[in-house]
Amino acid sequence: MARFTTVSLVQLFLSATGVFAGLEVDVDDAASVKKAAALVAEDLMSFYTGEIPGILPGPPPDGDYYPWTGGALWAAMLDYRSRTGDTQYDAKISEGLQWQAGPNSDYLAPNWSVSTGNDDQAIWAMAALLAAETGFTESGGDDPKWLTLAQNVFDQQSTEVRRVDNGSCAGGLRWQIYPTNNGYNWVATSSNVAYANLGARLRLQDGENKTQSQLVEDTFDWLETVKLIDSKFNVYDGAQANDCDQINKVQFSYTAAFALEGAAALYNSTTDEKWKALVDGLAQRTIEVFFPDGVATDVACEPDRCTTDATFYKAFLHRSLASTIKLAPHTASLILPVLKTSAAAAAKSCTGGDNERMCGLTWTGSFDNRTGAGSEIGVLSALLSLLPTEKAVASPGSNTSNNETGSKTAPSASSSTIPGNSGAHTTTSSIVLLSGGLLLAGLVLN
Ligand SMILES: *[C@@H]1O[C@H](CO)[C@@H](O)[C@H](O)[C@H]1NC(C)=O
Ligand SMILES: *[C@@H]1O[C@H](CO)[C@@H](O)[C@H](O)[C@H]1NC(C)=O
Ligand SMILES: *[C@@H]1O[C@H](CO)[C@@H](O)[C@H](O)[C@H]1NC(C)=O
Ligand SMILES: *[C@@H]1O[C@H](CO)[C@@H](O)[C@H](O)[C@H]1NC(C)=O
Ligand SMILES: *[C@@H]1O[C@H](CO)[C@@H](O)[C@H](O)[C@H]1NC(C)=O
Ligand SMILES: *[C@@H]1O[C@H](CO)[C@@H](O)[C@H](O)[C@H]1NC(C)=O
Ligand SMILES: *[C@@H]1O[C@H](CO)[C@@H](O)[C@H](O)[C@H]1NC(C)=O
Repeated sequence: MARFTTVSLVQLFLSATGVFAGLEVDVDDAASVKKAAALVAEDLMSFYTGEIPGILPGPPPDGDYYPWTGGALWAAMLDYRSRTGDTQYDAKISEGLQWQAGPNSDYLAPNWSVSTGNDDQAIWAMAALLAAETGFTESGGDDPKWLTLAQNVFDQQSTEVRRVDNGSCAGGLRWQIYPTNNGYNWVATSSNVAYANLGARLRLQDGENKTQSQLVEDTFDWLETVKLIDSKFNVYDGAQANDCDQINKVQFSYTAAFALEGAAALYNSTTDEKWKALVDGLAQRTIEVFFPDGVATDVACEPDRCTTDATFYKAFLHRSLASTIKLAPHTASLILPVLKTSAAAAAKSCTGGDNERMCGLTWTGSFDNRTGAGSEIGVLSALLSLLPTEKAVASPGSNTSNNETGSKTAPSASSSTIPGNSGAHTTTSSIVLLSGGLLLAGLVLN
């Protein structure tokens, strides 16, 4: 894949003299983090051609990237604009989020139906919801509002037709939407936690919609009852739809991430001790499992077995931990130290490619040359997780008659120093790995 990153003469000169060595960042200095994030965002966007608006080049078999990774991209870029104030990508974000919404405003674009599962659809909806949460300007005209897109997806996924209707998995949301897709007979934890995440965050936007929070509470109760989330707060991959006693115990970071952020949103709206316990358990366990030595790692596949899909997971991990701090501020002392050690290690991986700052996938050890949109998005999100969201950032030339959503953003002052201390304390965990861990899409199940 061709990239078009401009290497300035200054960089070439410094590089030739050996002074320039990759991405420089001081994780205790917000200005330095923003500066580094701007470079990584630019490198990430170099993978986006806009050829099919909204998604990265692909999908397989023509390219590396399933359409859902576009949803991941726009969520990370929305974080970027709202945490740095840099609005230069606004038009692309807005166009991409609307283009892929499909004729029914529900992120079921007919072009991608063979690879759209409930989790993929929810990932797009979560990006639209983030647009609403951060006061991103509505695109106006006949385009659906950000919140409408998210609500439409949640409502569809609440219906029985998307769910298992009998046996030990009854009630669970299936991985796939269409019976003809591989994976229809699989209950993916990712689909269920993404749904819960969406509903819990929608509830915060909607005010007092008890239906939503009841559905979310039922989802978490169900996940714990069938032990897809166990009593030690491990978040497992999934089960065959006809037998929830046979759980695939592989653990991927994005699944734990969706669960944690969703639980934090549910706790925020209910202030119920029951959900605080879930937040605390999930936060602790997420850090134990996925941050060995304080550095984010998808332990099920790193260093050398991650699919292109899996290279995107650590972005969700960092983003959800940052969001958890906001939704449940009492978790900051636990979470912030690991975000810092992880972001520092992440930035150190960015020494590759022609511009000598393309990032690697695994953040411990030397540069692994696994460059790609997934590696860039992971490092971008790691850096952004250290920055608070700014007050609602207006798009340039935005439509003033279309400006009511900004008020929902919880303003938090940006500061020049980042609180917390380094020296994360984590324990290494043993988890069960299963050969050939499940992918988000494209898996052939028998
Ligand atoms: C769907 O695919 C067709 C054929 O590749 C393309 O012309 C069309 O623009 C696509 N639609 C969307 C909404 O991306
Ligand atoms: C501004 O937003 C309103 C409401 O969505 C819409 O009717 C109007 O066409 C928009 N104006 C422009 C210039 O986009
Ligand atoms: C669920 O219902 C289907 C269709 O009625 C049936 O084929 C299947 O055996 C049932 N599964 C269980 C676990 O009862
Ligand atoms: C409350 O949430 C449910 C579930 O998403 C939705 O169907 C319903 O329209 C919502 N009610 C209101 C008043 O927004
Ligand atoms: C809910 O979120 C707000 C905004 O971040 C925060 O100020 C508040 O403390 C949170 N509530 C709880 C119970 O943590
Ligand atoms: C790194 O990867 C690129 C493209 O994927 C390849 O061309 C290059 O030879 C690799 N470099 C090393 C040192 O393996
Ligand atoms: C949105 O409305 C607020 C308050 O009415 C106003 O201060 C702000 O300038 C408006 N933003 C845009 C982009 O028009």
